Amino acid sequence: MTQKKTFVEIPEEHPPEESSLIPLLQKAQHEDGYISPVKVEEIAQFLKITESQIYGVASFYSQFRFTAPGKHSISVCLGTACHVSGGETLLNTIERNLEVSPGECTPDGKFDLNRVACLGCCALAPVIKVDDEIYSNVNVIKLNDILDLYE
Ligand code: FES
Repeated sequence: MTQKKTFVEIPEEHPPEESSLIPLLQKAQHEDGYISPVKVEEIAQFLKITESQIYGVASFYSQFRFTAPGKHSISVCLGTACHVSGGETLLNTIERNLEVSPGECTPDGKFDLNRVACLGCCALAPVIKVDDEIYSNVNVIKLNDILDLYE
């Protein structure tokens, strides 16, 4: 009986050396939408490094997430234009109302929350994005209406 290969066991693609860490983390996140504890364990064993080393390196890269994504993803822009127009207030409101912190998922799994640097439409600040939809000139009242649109 042949044993199923783990996702890291393609030596020609990812040799078992530390330079493979970032590509393997990217691969894990691409497959699952986040980097699960199981994948971290697999990578650690494959590269012969500790899981703490992996979390330590990955924490420098905002692209990596270690919690499962929610059904919908909220991104709050905190780039300069959005920050000065109330982006932080929007973020705090979402955190408080939905009981979620950036990089995490709400207790019911409906939304995950992310801070982003700029969504590329600064003239419309403050801006949030839910899944692929951009919402502009958002205020706290409009925010609640927007989030109510999502089942
Ligand atoms: S700063 Fe928010 S869209 Fe650019």
